[in-house]
Amino acid sequence: MFCLSLRDSARLRPLEIWHAEEFAAHLDRAREHIRPWVGAGFVTDDVDGARATLRRYAERQAADGGRLYGIWLDGALVGGVMFVDFDTALGSCEIGCWVEPAAEGRGLVTEACRALLEWAFTSRGMHRAEWHCRADNERSSAVAKRLGMALEGVRREHWPYGGARYDKQIWAILAPEWRTHRQ
Ligand SMILES: CC(C)(COP(=O)(O)OP(=O)(O)OC[C@H]1O[C@@H](n2cnc3c(N)ncnc32)[C@H](O)[C@@H]1OP(=O)(O)O)[C@@H](O)C(=O)NCCC(=O)NCCS
Repeated sequence: MFCLSLRDSARLRPLEIWHAEEFAAHLDRAREHIRPWVGAGFVTDDVDGARATLRRYAERQAADGGRLYGIWLDGALVGGVMFVDFDTALGSCEIGCWVEPAAEGRGLVTEACRALLEWAFTSRGMHRAEWHCRADNERSSAVAKRLGMALEGVRREHWPYGGARYDKQIWAILAPEWRTHRQ
């Protein structure tokens, strides 16, 4: 019911428990593409797993914490963006994202993240938004750059995956920087 037009036929809407089957079907298309780059708990294998993720975010949202939004393209769920963390006491949040291969390279994630940043900084008075990614995730760090974020540092070998450990980058943008960047 509540949705934001990103462009053309792409829409951003809350991704909720009642979408569990649609979310699971989307993960079937996205799973191997996103697995190396997102938290292991997000890459579930069936409808129950998908529902558990949606429930976890619903509970966070009920506590004014994390939030999850889906991106629909031509009526199909193709990815999403989220507040992984949303700490009003600290005035700080963290944004995450993913898309299935068919929806990559269209600017949908950057545009959806802009909507989240605008809401966090303008409607909710947050001061800082972070972006965490594997240091070798070039498509992800490109989104952080497009959003005007600065690379603040690297947590060395902080990301275990497939028997190896990878560096993790921390990007961030502050509220005054966002107001300048969005112009
Ligand atoms: C990271 C990820 C979400 C980025 O997706 P993406 O589609 O590249 O990101 P955007 O939506 O910002 O699109 C940018 C691309 O669209 C193109 N584009 C087209 N129209 C555009 C527009 N109007 N505005 C911005 N970019 C546009 C850009 O040129 C860019 O393509 P390029 O990289 O080939 O030059 C995606 O690669 C992904 O899901 N990866 C696996 C999971 C993952 O890494 N998640 C993040 C964990 S930290």
